[in-house]
Amino acid sequence: MSVGLIPARSVRERLLSLPSIDPLIKAAEATGSKGMLDEAMLDLLLVQKEEAVIGRTIAPIAEPELVVPARIHNLDHYRIEDFPMEARDVDSEITVHFDITGNSVTEGKKEDIQACFNDRLKQIRRLIIDGKLPNRPIAINEAVRQRKQLTGRDNSFTIIGLVKESNTTKNGHLRFTIEDATSEVRCMLMQRDEEGPNQEIVHAGLMDDDVIGVTGNFNQDGGTIFVDDIHFPPLKQHKRRTAGSDQAVSAAFISDLHLGSKTFLEPQWQKMMKWFNEDPLAKTIRYLVISGDGVDGVGIYPNQDKHLNIPDLFNQYSRLGTMLQELPDWVEVLLLPGNHDAVRPAEPQPALDPELQTDYNNTMFVGNPCDFSLHGVRVLSYHGVSIMDFVASLRTVTFETPEAAMRAMLDRRHLAPSWGGKTPLSPEPEDRLVIQEIPDIFVTGHVHGHHTETYKGVNLVHSSTWQDQTDYQRMLGFQPKPCILTVVNLHTHAMAAIPFV
Ligand SMILES: [Fe+2]
Ligand SMILES: [Fe+2]
Repeated sequence: MSVGLIPARSVRERLLSLPSIDPLIKAAEATGSKGMLDEAMLDLLLVQKEEAVIGRTIAPIAEPELVVPARIHNLDHYRIEDFPMEARDVDSEITVHFDITGNSVTEGKKEDIQACFNDRLKQIRRLIIDGKLPNRPIAINEAVRQRKQLTGRDNSFTIIGLVKESNTTKNGHLRFTIEDATSEVRCMLMQRDEEGPNQEIVHAGLMDDDVIGVTGNFNQDGGTIFVDDIHFPPLKQHKRRTAGSDQAVSAAFISDLHLGSKTFLEPQWQKMMKWFNEDPLAKTIRYLVISGDGVDGVGIYPNQDKHLNIPDLFNQYSRLGTMLQELPDWVEVLLLPGNHDAVRPAEPQPALDPELQTDYNNTMFVGNPCDFSLHGVRVLSYHGVSIMDFVASLRTVTFETPEAAMRAMLDRRHLAPSWGGKTPLSPEPEDRLVIQEIPDIFVTGHVHGHHTETYKGVNLVHSSTWQDQTDYQRMLGFQPKPCILTVVNLHTHAMAAIPFV
């Protein structure tokens, strides 16, 4: 209560089982977390807590029961006919559409932040208007000026802006403020006993700094808009681009190797290298995309050195390069950085420094996120730090379901909307974390799960890690799904997931 947190009944047991809540309170203060302390926020604060408590090991009171990951041995088998062409028969064809490397221009000043948000608003506003709105949107100051006339159902109007201060009232209604360049106004979306998109939003919540359209009318005192509808950019069924039948090779996806950490799964890696050099499916793989956290890094969290078996950063990168050289020569690697890599943490992140690239062959170093095409198939690869913000903000997303965060990113056309959350953002004058072009394959990592699905025509891949469960994950009762290689054929779009455990 002293820091403005209200514990939900669902976290009571977990709170009581903590040896002390002081570190939790410090973490809440440090992050400015307020409001309902629910399961998701508690998970997040426990992460913060570990980072905040330097030089102290937090032992769990009771070992949470480990749950065997449901999908790992249950992966669908694939048909080799869906992967029709050998990789060595086709020349590499990579076109990069966006990579911040060498293109970051921000100085991180207040004006840069303003420019970034104005650009985001402009880009997503255009997308929302391209959908079907019930009326032409007006500026918020215009709506506020006419609030006396804009009351009652017959006088509904539409505004578009950025969400802030979103929360749920004790009666379950969704309350938030929306702002554009001209002004801001409070809104209320009522919780009702019915189904539909509005109630889905009431249930899920909104993200800070989401760009949305709001149709509604003012209440009698003109202070709040009663919302009829919320508009996200339209996301129609996507028609995937395909590589020609004469280029029907495959791309494979992994991330989060965390090489250098004692929990890197070396024997499983060896198993995959052998497979790469022998298996018929492996012979179709032309590209291997590694979406960040290739190494565990150095100084990423307090006392990390205790968990490292390669304590030197250069040696970690050098070893990774040597290991990737064991891949067959027909495989080209695309390597993105993640939050454990030796580049600035603020997203978009540039590619690794050339100094760290010396022991690699056949590897292309790109930034995070990276938007590129392989034989015309558009791939959006993003390491995925913002998944933690989605978990903290939306009731529909958990650490076990990163795919729900990926769907939410596509729905709001943004990879990391919230400023000031867990994701450090670099305020570039053009906000390139906006998903300008719907990808054919959308891939993330970071939370060490694994999942594949097709969402509105987009192949979603949450790529698997090569790191075993860490002490910290054990404390949280989180079971990763390691050592699964995801393969997607660029001509047929067939997906296969090959476990190496
Ligand atoms: Fe990771
Ligand atoms: Fe990560």
